[in-house]
Amino acid sequence: MSIDVGLEQGLIRVTEAAAVASAHTMGRGARDESDRVAVEAMRTELDRLDMRCRIVIGEGERDQAPMLYVGEELGGGDETAPRIDIAVDPLEGTNLCATGAPGAVAVLAASEEGGLLHAPDIYMEKIVVGPTARGRVHLDAPVAENLRNIAEAFDREVSDLTVVVLERDRHAQLIADIRAAGARIRLIGDGDLSAGIAAAVRGTGVHAVFGIGGAPEGVLAAAAMRCLGGEIQGRLHARDAAQKQRLVDLGIEDPDRIYDTRELAPGENILFACSGVTDGELLRGVRFFGGHGSRTSTLFMSLADRVIRFVDTIHRPDDGPVIFR
Ligand code: FBP
Repeated sequence: MSIDVGLEQGLIRVTEAAAVASAHTMGRGARDESDRVAVEAMRTELDRLDMRCRIVIGEGERDQAPMLYVGEELGGGDETAPRIDIAVDPLEGTNLCATGAPGAVAVLAASEEGGLLHAPDIYMEKIVVGPTARGRVHLDAPVAENLRNIAEAFDREVSDLTVVVLERDRHAQLIADIRAAGARIRLIGDGDLSAGIAAAVRGTGVHAVFGIGGAPEGVLAAAAMRCLGGEIQGRLHARDAAQKQRLVDLGIEDPDRIYDTRELAPGENILFACSGVTDGELLRGVRFFGGHGSRTSTLFMSLADRVIRFVDTIHRPDDGPVIFR
Protein backbone atom coordinates (compact mmCIF):
# COMPACT_ATOMS: atom_id res chain seq x y z
CA MET A 1 0.00 0.00 0.00
CA SER A 2 2.27 2.71 -1.22
CA ILE A 3 0.77 6.15 -1.52
CA ASP A 4 -2.07 6.27 -3.90
CA VAL A 5 -3.07 9.90 -4.35
CA GLY A 6 -6.74 9.02 -4.00
CA LEU A 7 -6.12 7.22 -0.72
CA GLU A 8 -3.96 10.03 0.61
CA GLN A 9 -6.62 12.61 -0.20
CA GLY A 10 -9.29 10.32 1.21
CA LEU A 11 -7.51 9.80 4.54
CA ILE A 12 -6.84 13.52 4.87
CA ARG A 13 -10.54 14.16 4.26
CA VAL A 14 -11.38 11.69 7.04
CA THR A 15 -9.48 13.54 9.78
CA GLU A 16 -10.41 16.96 8.37
CA ALA A 17 -14.10 16.07 8.52
CA ALA A 18 -13.82 14.85 12.12
CA ALA A 19 -11.88 17.97 13.10
CA VAL A 20 -14.40 20.35 11.50
CA ALA A 21 -17.36 18.56 13.06
CA SER A 22 -15.92 18.54 16.58
CA ALA A 23 -14.48 22.07 16.31
CA HIS A 24 -18.04 23.36 15.84
CA THR A 25 -18.71 22.18 19.40
CA MET A 26 -15.55 23.67 20.91
CA GLY A 27 -16.00 25.14 24.36
CA ARG A 28 -19.59 23.97 24.78
CA GLY A 29 -18.62 21.75 27.65
CA ALA A 30 -20.36 18.86 25.90
CA ARG A 31 -17.68 16.20 25.57
CA ASP A 32 -20.06 13.44 24.50
CA GLU A 33 -21.47 15.58 21.71
CA SER A 34 -17.98 16.63 20.57
CA ASP A 35 -16.96 12.99 20.40
CA ARG A 36 -20.17 11.83 18.73
CA VAL A 37 -20.00 14.32 15.85
CA ALA A 38 -16.32 13.51 15.28
CA VAL A 39 -17.11 9.78 15.16
CA GLU A 40 -20.02 10.26 12.75
CA ALA A 41 -18.03 12.50 10.41
CA MET A 42 -15.06 10.15 10.43
CA ARG A 43 -17.20 7.10 9.77
CA THR A 44 -19.01 8.78 6.85
CA GLU A 45 -15.73 9.71 5.19
CA LEU A 46 -14.09 6.33 5.86
CA ASP A 47 -17.04 4.64 4.22
CA ARG A 48 -16.40 6.69 1.06
CA LEU A 49 -12.88 5.32 0.59
CA ASP A 50 -12.43 3.04 -2.35
CA MET A 51 -10.98 0.40 -0.01
CA ARG A 52 -12.08 -2.33 2.33
CA CYS A 53 -11.24 -0.99 5.77
CA ARG A 54 -11.26 -2.92 9.04
CA ILE A 55 -11.22 -0.95 12.30
CA VAL A 56 -8.57 -2.40 14.64
CA ILE A 57 -8.44 0.48 17.11
CA GLY A 58 -11.69 2.38 17.46
CA GLU A 59 -14.36 3.56 19.81
CA GLY A 60 -14.52 0.32 21.77
CA GLU A 61 -15.53 -3.28 21.33
CA ARG A 62 -18.49 -4.18 19.12
CA ASP A 63 -20.96 -4.34 22.03
CA GLN A 64 -19.83 -0.99 23.48
CA ALA A 65 -19.82 1.32 20.49
CA PRO A 66 -22.40 1.85 17.75
CA MET A 67 -19.83 3.12 15.27
CA LEU A 68 -16.16 2.63 14.56
CA TYR A 69 -16.10 -0.37 16.88
CA VAL A 70 -13.22 -2.79 16.71
CA GLY A 71 -13.88 -5.18 13.84
CA GLU A 72 -16.26 -2.88 11.92
CA GLU A 73 -15.76 -3.14 8.17
CA LEU A 74 -16.09 0.05 6.16
CA GLY A 75 -15.27 1.44 2.75
CA GLY A 76 -16.86 1.47 -0.66
CA GLY A 77 -14.38 -0.87 -2.31
CA ASP A 78 -15.57 -4.13 -3.91
CA GLU A 79 -13.99 -7.56 -3.49
CA THR A 80 -11.00 -6.54 -5.57
CA ALA A 81 -10.27 -3.37 -3.58
CA PRO A 82 -7.25 -3.40 -1.26
CA ARG A 83 -7.87 -4.34 2.36
CA ILE A 84 -6.45 -2.06 5.01
CA ASP A 85 -6.44 -1.90 8.79
CA ILE A 86 -7.41 1.37 10.39
CA ALA A 87 -6.78 2.77 13.88
CA VAL A 88 -8.75 5.87 14.79
CA ASP A 89 -9.16 8.39 17.52
CA PRO A 90 -11.80 10.71 16.03
CA LEU A 91 -11.31 13.21 18.85
CA GLU A 92 -8.14 12.83 20.87
CA GLY A 93 -8.54 15.20 23.80
CA THR A 94 -12.32 15.28 24.17
CA ASN A 95 -12.07 17.47 27.27
CA LEU A 96 -9.68 19.81 25.48
CA CYS A 97 -12.27 20.36 22.76
CA ALA A 98 -15.12 20.67 25.26
CA THR A 99 -13.23 23.40 27.12
CA GLY A 100 -11.50 25.03 24.14
CA ALA A 101 -8.06 24.12 25.48
CA PRO A 102 -5.13 23.59 23.10
CA GLY A 103 -4.07 20.24 21.68
CA ALA A 104 -7.27 18.46 20.57
CA VAL A 105 -6.79 16.53 17.30
CA ALA A 106 -8.58 14.04 15.04
CA VAL A 107 -6.29 11.10 14.24
CA LEU A 108 -6.13 8.05 12.00
CA ALA A 109 -3.47 5.51 11.09
CA ALA A 110 -3.77 2.98 8.28
CA SER A 111 -1.64 0.03 7.26
CA GLU A 112 -1.70 -3.24 5.41
CA GLU A 113 -3.58 -5.95 7.33
CA GLY A 114 -1.86 -6.80 10.63
CA GLY A 115 0.22 -3.62 10.58
CA LEU A 116 -1.24 -2.11 13.76
CA LEU A 117 -1.45 -3.95 17.09
CA HIS A 118 -4.98 -4.68 18.20
CA ALA A 119 -4.42 -3.23 21.67
CA PRO A 120 -7.26 -3.40 24.19
CA ASP A 121 -8.79 -0.16 25.43
CA ILE A 122 -6.94 -0.13 28.73
CA TYR A 123 -4.04 1.90 30.05
CA MET A 124 -0.48 1.66 28.82
CA GLU A 125 2.67 2.81 30.57
CA LYS A 126 4.66 4.69 27.93
CA ILE A 127 7.84 6.49 27.18
CA VAL A 128 8.10 8.44 23.93
CA VAL A 129 11.15 10.18 22.48
CA GLY A 130 11.99 11.58 19.08
CA PRO A 131 14.70 10.47 16.65
CA THR A 132 17.46 12.29 18.57
CA ALA A 133 17.02 10.19 21.70
CA ARG A 134 15.86 6.98 20.00
CA GLY A 135 17.58 3.92 21.51
CA ARG A 136 18.65 5.85 24.60
CA VAL A 137 15.72 5.09 26.94
CA HIS A 138 14.19 2.04 28.55
CA LEU A 139 10.82 1.78 30.25
CA ASP A 140 12.36 -0.12 33.16
CA ALA A 141 15.34 2.18 33.66
CA PRO A 142 15.20 4.69 36.52
CA VAL A 143 13.70 8.03 35.47
CA ALA A 144 16.95 9.86 36.26
CA GLU A 145 18.95 7.50 34.03
CA ASN A 146 16.57 7.96 31.10
CA LEU A 147 16.72 11.72 31.52
CA ARG A 148 20.53 11.70 31.64
CA ASN A 149 20.61 9.68 28.42
CA ILE A 150 18.09 11.94 26.68
CA ALA A 151 20.06 15.03 27.76
CA GLU A 152 23.28 13.48 26.46
CA ALA A 153 21.63 12.70 23.12
CA PHE A 154 20.54 16.34 22.83
CA ASP A 155 23.97 17.52 24.02
CA ARG A 156 22.48 19.50 26.87
CA GLU A 157 21.84 19.36 30.61
CA VAL A 158 18.98 17.45 32.20
CA SER A 159 17.77 20.80 33.51
CA ASP A 160 17.27 21.93 29.89
CA LEU A 161 14.86 19.11 29.07
CA THR A 162 11.08 19.39 29.06
CA VAL A 163 9.13 16.22 29.76
CA VAL A 164 5.38 16.11 29.17
CA VAL A 165 3.32 14.20 31.73
CA LEU A 166 -0.44 13.80 32.02
CA GLU A 167 -1.56 15.53 35.22
CA ARG A 168 -2.98 12.58 37.09
CA ASP A 169 -2.71 11.36 40.72
CA ARG A 170 -1.19 8.12 39.45
CA HIS A 171 1.83 10.12 38.27
CA ALA A 172 2.74 11.63 41.66
CA GLN A 173 5.87 9.47 42.03
CA LEU A 174 6.87 9.91 38.38
CA ILE A 175 6.55 13.70 38.68
CA ALA A 176 8.56 13.67 41.92
CA ASP A 177 11.28 11.59 40.24
CA ILE A 178 11.49 13.91 37.23
CA ARG A 179 11.68 16.93 39.51
CA ALA A 180 14.36 15.26 41.65
CA ALA A 181 16.39 14.57 38.50
CA GLY A 182 16.17 18.27 37.64
CA ALA A 183 14.24 18.22 34.34
CA ARG A 184 11.43 20.60 33.58
CA ILE A 185 7.89 19.27 33.35
CA ARG A 186 4.90 20.31 31.30
CA LEU A 187 1.80 18.90 32.92
CA ILE A 188 -1.08 18.45 30.48
CA GLY A 189 -4.75 17.84 31.19
CA ASP A 190 -5.18 15.44 28.26
CA GLY A 191 -3.65 14.45 24.96
CA ASP A 192 -0.53 12.35 25.39
CA LEU A 193 -0.69 11.36 21.70
CA SER A 194 -0.21 14.93 20.45
CA ALA A 195 2.52 15.38 23.04
CA GLY A 196 4.27 12.26 21.73
CA ILE A 197 4.19 13.57 18.18
CA ALA A 198 5.58 16.90 19.41
CA ALA A 199 8.44 15.05 21.12
CA ALA A 200 9.51 13.70 17.73
CA VAL A 201 9.72 17.14 16.13
CA ARG A 202 12.66 19.43 16.95
CA GLY A 203 11.65 22.95 17.82
CA THR A 204 8.49 22.08 19.74
CA GLY A 205 10.37 22.24 23.02
CA VAL A 206 9.15 18.78 24.03
CA HIS A 207 11.89 16.18 24.58
CA ALA A 208 9.96 13.22 25.94
CA VAL A 209 6.60 12.00 27.18
CA PHE A 210 6.50 9.77 30.25
CA GLY A 211 3.58 8.14 32.05
CA ILE A 212 0.44 6.08 31.82
CA GLY A 213 -2.21 6.92 29.20
CA GLY A 214 -4.47 5.03 26.83
CA ALA A 215 -3.15 1.96 25.01
CA PRO A 216 -5.01 2.87 21.78
CA GLU A 217 -3.22 6.24 21.82
CA GLY A 218 0.00 4.23 22.28
CA VAL A 219 -0.59 2.33 19.03
CA LEU A 220 -1.40 5.56 17.18
CA ALA A 221 1.71 7.18 18.64
CA ALA A 222 3.75 4.18 17.45
CA ALA A 223 2.40 4.62 13.92
CA ALA A 224 3.46 8.27 14.05
CA MET A 225 6.88 7.34 15.47
CA ARG A 226 7.47 4.88 12.63
CA CYS A 227 6.90 7.74 10.18
CA LEU A 228 8.93 10.28 12.17
CA GLY A 229 11.82 8.02 13.21
CA GLY A 230 11.01 8.35 16.90
CA GLU A 231 10.53 5.69 19.55
CA ILE A 232 7.80 4.55 21.92
CA GLN A 233 7.95 1.76 24.47
CA GLY A 234 4.72 0.65 26.09
CA ARG A 235 3.53 -1.87 28.66
CA LEU A 236 -0.16 -2.66 29.01
CA HIS A 237 -1.49 -1.73 32.40
CA ALA A 238 -4.47 -3.84 33.48
CA ARG A 239 -6.17 -2.29 36.50
CA ASP A 240 -8.59 -5.00 37.57
CA ALA A 241 -9.47 -8.66 37.12
CA ALA A 242 -11.71 -7.95 34.12
CA GLN A 243 -8.92 -6.14 32.27
CA LYS A 244 -6.46 -8.93 33.15
CA GLN A 245 -8.94 -11.43 31.70
CA ARG A 246 -9.21 -9.27 28.59
CA LEU A 247 -5.47 -9.66 28.07
CA VAL A 248 -5.77 -13.42 28.44
CA ASP A 249 -8.67 -13.46 25.94
CA LEU A 250 -6.52 -11.55 23.47
CA GLY A 251 -3.81 -14.17 23.82
CA ILE A 252 -1.41 -11.83 25.61
CA GLU A 253 0.51 -14.26 27.76
CA ASP A 254 2.98 -11.94 29.42
CA PRO A 255 1.14 -8.95 30.92
CA ASP A 256 4.46 -7.27 31.74
CA ARG A 257 5.76 -7.40 28.20
CA ILE A 258 7.27 -4.19 26.90
CA TYR A 259 6.21 -3.46 23.33
CA ASP A 260 8.58 -1.45 21.17
CA THR A 261 7.61 0.85 18.32
CA ARG A 262 7.66 -1.89 15.70
CA GLU A 263 5.67 -4.30 17.83
CA LEU A 264 2.96 -1.69 18.35
CA ALA A 265 2.91 -0.69 14.68
CA PRO A 266 4.67 -3.41 12.64
CA GLY A 267 3.31 -2.37 9.23
CA GLU A 268 5.61 -1.67 6.34
CA ASN A 269 3.08 0.68 4.78
CA ILE A 270 1.89 3.00 7.49
CA LEU A 271 -0.10 6.09 6.67
CA PHE A 272 -0.90 8.62 9.39
CA ALA A 273 -3.19 11.64 9.33
CA CYS A 274 -3.90 14.07 12.13
CA SER A 275 -5.94 17.30 11.91
CA GLY A 276 -5.97 20.04 14.52
CA VAL A 277 -9.28 20.67 16.28
CA THR A 278 -7.99 23.30 18.69
CA ASP A 279 -4.63 25.07 18.27
CA GLY A 280 -1.63 22.96 19.20
CA GLU A 281 2.15 22.76 18.98
CA LEU A 282 2.24 21.53 15.39
CA LEU A 283 -1.21 22.14 14.00
CA ARG A 284 -3.66 24.98 14.10
CA GLY A 285 -7.22 24.37 15.13
CA VAL A 286 -10.13 24.71 12.71
CA ARG A 287 -11.04 28.26 11.74
CA PHE A 288 -14.52 29.12 10.50
CA PHE A 289 -15.46 31.90 8.09
CA GLY A 290 -19.15 32.36 8.66
CA GLY A 291 -21.00 30.88 5.69
CA HIS A 292 -17.81 30.91 3.67
CA GLY A 293 -16.27 27.70 4.86
CA SER A 294 -13.46 26.66 7.13
CA ARG A 295 -9.73 26.10 7.17
CA THR A 296 -8.01 23.01 8.54
CA SER A 297 -4.43 22.10 9.31
CA THR A 298 -3.34 18.48 8.89
CA LEU A 299 -0.18 16.43 9.31
CA PHE A 300 -0.05 13.55 6.80
CA MET A 301 2.77 11.01 6.79
CA SER A 302 3.61 7.92 4.78
CA LEU A 303 6.28 5.53 6.02
CA ALA A 304 6.84 3.75 2.71
CA ASP A 305 6.98 6.94 0.68
CA ARG A 306 9.06 8.79 3.29
CA VAL A 307 6.92 11.90 3.19
CA ILE A 308 5.72 14.20 5.92
CA ARG A 309 3.26 16.72 4.62
CA PHE A 310 1.58 19.67 6.29
CA VAL A 311 -1.71 20.21 4.52
CA ASP A 312 -3.52 23.53 4.89
CA THR A 313 -7.00 23.27 3.40
CA ILE A 314 -9.75 25.77 2.75
CA HIS A 315 -13.16 24.09 2.64
CA ARG A 316 -15.77 25.95 0.60
CA PRO A 317 -19.29 24.80 1.37
CA ASP A 318 -21.01 26.96 -1.22
CA ASP A 319 -20.39 28.92 -4.41
CA GLY A 320 -20.13 32.24 -2.58
CA PRO A 321 -17.05 34.42 -2.45
CA VAL A 322 -13.94 32.85 -0.94
CA ILE A 323 -13.20 34.71 2.26
CA PHE A 324 -10.47 33.39 4.49
CA ARG A 325 -7.65 34.53 6.68
P1 FBP B 1 -9.94 11.09 25.16
O1 FBP B 1 -9.89 12.21 24.22
O2 FBP B 1 -10.35 9.83 24.52
O3 FBP B 1 -10.76 11.45 26.36
O4 FBP B 1 -8.43 10.80 25.66
C1 FBP B 1 -7.67 11.81 26.22
C2 FBP B 1 -6.50 11.25 27.00
O5 FBP B 1 -5.92 12.30 27.77
C3 FBP B 1 -5.42 10.59 26.18
O6 FBP B 1 -4.58 11.49 25.54
C4 FBP B 1 -4.71 9.77 27.21
O7 FBP B 1 -3.95 8.72 26.65
C5 FBP B 1 -5.85 9.27 28.06
O8 FBP B 1 -6.92 10.21 27.87
C6 FBP B 1 -5.55 9.21 29.53
O9 FBP B 1 -6.63 8.63 30.18
P2 FBP B 1 -7.22 9.19 31.55
O10 FBP B 1 -7.93 10.49 31.26
O11 FBP B 1 -8.15 8.14 32.02
O12 FBP B 1 -6.08 9.41 32.47
